[in-house]
Amino acid sequence: MKKLLGIFLAVLMIASMSSVGFAADSEEWNEYWKTDEAHSGVTVFPGGDETQRRISWYSDTDALPKVTLTDSEGKSEIFEGRCFKTYDGAYADKVTVTGLKEGETYTYTCTSGDYTSEVYTIKTPSGSDFTALYLTDIHISEGEEQNEGEDSLRDDSFIFNEVLEAAGKNAEPDIILSAGDQATQGLESEYRALAASPAYRNTSFAPVIGNHDRKGVAYKYFKNVPNEDTSNICGSYIGFDYWFVKGDTLFMVMESNNGSGIDHRSFMRSAVNANKDVKWRVVMMHHDLYSGRIPHRESENKLLRLIWGPLFSEFDIDLALLGHSHYYTVSNVIYNNKVTAEIKGNDVLTNAPGTVSMVSGSLNHPRNDPPEELGLNDTAGYYYAQQGDQVLYSMIDFTEDEICVRSYSLDTGEQFNSLTLKKDSQKGGHPQKSAPFYQPAVNFIGTVYQFFNNISVYDRLKESGFEVGLFEVLFNTKNP
Ligand SMILES: [Fe+2]
Repeated sequence: MKKLLGIFLAVLMIASMSSVGFAADSEEWNEYWKTDEAHSGVTVFPGGDETQRRISWYSDTDALPKVTLTDSEGKSEIFEGRCFKTYDGAYADKVTVTGLKEGETYTYTCTSGDYTSEVYTIKTPSGSDFTALYLTDIHISEGEEQNEGEDSLRDDSFIFNEVLEAAGKNAEPDIILSAGDQATQGLESEYRALAASPAYRNTSFAPVIGNHDRKGVAYKYFKNVPNEDTSNICGSYIGFDYWFVKGDTLFMVMESNNGSGIDHRSFMRSAVNANKDVKWRVVMMHHDLYSGRIPHRESENKLLRLIWGPLFSEFDIDLALLGHSHYYTVSNVIYNNKVTAEIKGNDVLTNAPGTVSMVSGSLNHPRNDPPEELGLNDTAGYYYAQQGDQVLYSMIDFTEDEICVRSYSLDTGEQFNSLTLKKDSQKGGHPQKSAPFYQPAVNFIGTVYQFFNNISVYDRLKESGFEVGLFEVLFNTKNP
């Protein structure tokens, strides 16, 4: 039986090497789920640029972690890294591979002690064009009312694998952009399940910290992201803002659970200054700002807009990929929290006078409230009224001349919306106006608020039985 399972897995692995999709029906997935390899958490995070990738996985040993990278001509190189003991008593192994050439297909294996992973692939794009899969609120959950424990992890990760398979049929993504709430309780088991799909291991994964990722402590050891801003006055205990450049796009990935406006502005200014020649600027963060789809969240949204709206405008952000509300929406074009152009659906905008923000539903928990029970404010442009329980995802083509978003339903297989942004210079149509006069005060108040919020987070974690130190939580002094 074990031998048969091995042959079956080998066939699936080989199939998965030919495209990002990993075709498996639920029975095949359940068999794969029984293997140790499904739970090893192998993840490829982006490097600071295309010449690097940052790889992580879990093991039960503190042996030196190594990645063997082999190019298309069979030439191998071994990269060594570091390991960190997780709160669950396992080890998080982290290795950075460097010197990647464009337009190349590499294979890699991860080794620590007796563990050697299966063979996976890293493909680098030719030139600056690339395709991303954007999704949000994957919500891998250990334990829910109707679907407890192990089955829940297995079934949630199966749906994620189904999306990867469908996305791979549309266009092979070079990277997965995930706008937060990868996990529901922030547990290590949830991140292991998130990383189960071999298709996931054959592309890069750029995660955002969601409010649910922040319920636990495991995200801190799961992630291995580049250019984190560890100089924060007031940080978040599981991670920081980080940036990377891919093609002609600067991605600024913000920790929006952290209200420290002073730190976020400082981070964005230094990320932009370090990449002055990069044409497109994209923000990824978890909290939705403009959809207005959930009335009871509107007071929170108003506060968040005070901090984030002027930052998006000051730094000429073209597109913001958000999450949190679990409802597909595309905002109107916004500048300093005011609508400057309208969005209707299937839009093509040239030199948009501000930022467009969007939310791509939720993978495992789409909101199915009837539209008449949800409020809309004037910042929301297009929303997908037929969303119901559908699983949605978007493919985004990034080129020098345009960013083109195509949004799909996994359930119907149909493309239901698109958004194309074009601009003829780096500035495009972004207006040249100053931030509101009260902005420094807002940013300062946000930083003070975060300090006290971190104290309450420390109390919560201690009450939950986590062995964390006060300074570790206040200032993230133990960032792996
Ligand atoms: Fe969520």
